[in-house]
Amino acid sequence: MIRGLTKTIRFLGIYGWWRTFYKVAGRSRRLPGFVRPRLARVRDVGVIGCGQFAFATIGCILCRRFGNRFVDCCDPSHEAQSTFARFFRIAAPGGVAQKVIANPSCELIYVASNHASHSRYAVACLEAGKRVYIEKPICTTVEQAAQLFPLARAARGRVFAGYNGPHSAAIREIARRCEGTDGPLSLMCIVLGHLLPAGHWYRDPQEGTRICGNVGHWLDLAIHMLAWQGIPTSIEVTLSFADPEGRDENMSIALATERGDLVTIVMSARGEPFEGINESIVFQQGDVIAKIDDFRTMTLWQDHKRWRRRYRPKDVGHAAAICQPFSGRSRDWFEIEVSTLLMLFVTDMVRAGV
Ligand SMILES: NC(=O)c1ccc[n+]([C@@H]2O[C@H](COP(=O)([O-])OP(=O)(O)OC[C@H]3O[C@@H](n4cnc5c(N)ncnc54)[C@H](O)[C@@H]3O)[C@@H](O)[C@H]2O)c1
Repeated sequence: MIRGLTKTIRFLGIYGWWRTFYKVAGRSRRLPGFVRPRLARVRDVGVIGCGQFAFATIGCILCRRFGNRFVDCCDPSHEAQSTFARFFRIAAPGGVAQKVIANPSCELIYVASNHASHSRYAVACLEAGKRVYIEKPICTTVEQAAQLFPLARAARGRVFAGYNGPHSAAIREIARRCEGTDGPLSLMCIVLGHLLPAGHWYRDPQEGTRICGNVGHWLDLAIHMLAWQGIPTSIEVTLSFADPEGRDENMSIALATERGDLVTIVMSARGEPFEGINESIVFQQGDVIAKIDDFRTMTLWQDHKRWRRRYRPKDVGHAAAICQPFSGRSRDWFEIEVSTLLMLFVTDMVRAGV
């Protein structure tokens, strides 16, 4: 009780009123219909996978920005689907993904289901001519990538990926400061992830390990920042594992490029962080140095100048990422393909213990 209250108070400070309210509502799933739907002609969004992220992040951000446009949803868990439909006042949820995709009212579909299903749903959406936002990871196998990538390339402007780091205010400001800066970069990322119980679905072998579930975010951010000077033609990957039984957590990844860039990612999950995942970044390129503390503060130096930024609410880039289908500011799809292939390559290395 006291822990729950303390967490809510902390979340109010970190995420603000609305996100905290949706987070609590998404966890409890007890509230009746809350968000009034918009007029029928602007209700055009479907959701596949009605879990916590769809409810508390996608639901909150879309409804706060554009009003409630949800018109259909599905989830194999009756509880998840019915409570999502009740809260967002979806009168007759499709129940299965095929029906949501075939629903003529759904012009844009958010896929926020289990990892192994993302690319299958995305392919079905694109084949049906829909626009689709795919939560991370967009694939968990090379076979899925081979099927999705050609379709996604042909559907440019209709497909969006949920990797949010590059959309954060901090990373966008570093990008602006680095314009015109030459030379290799150094990027150090430290991720203190959730402590997942043994039976958590992220651990199911077909879901692609925590490399697909969590570390993929950081590989994608690394590719995005490396791409400021052009995507490198080769990357040397070195892994260190602390625990031979659970190689996808408490591990580090080092990436070195032929032009001298160095990226390190440390993933630690030794206890549950009370305020959620905690992420730190240190960056240097030329005379630009940045230190980001959990996307809540950043100190930035360039030559003799120094800036201090505070992000309230915490800005990991979720809002800008989720709004891509509306804002027209979407990621370069080629970066997403490269980061996905790198993630799958690292996943294979982790599985093999290389
Ligand atoms: N971008 C981010 O920062 C971020 C953060 C958290 C979660 N996520 C992503 O959001 C997605 C959902 O995660 P979550 O935290 O909401 O997990 P969750 O467990 O709360 O929700 C997942 C939901 O998917 C449903 N589901 C399972 N198999 C399905 C299938 N075959 N078809 C349709 N639905 C299915 C489950 O019943 C569940 O309701 C994942 O891809 C996760 O990686 C992204």
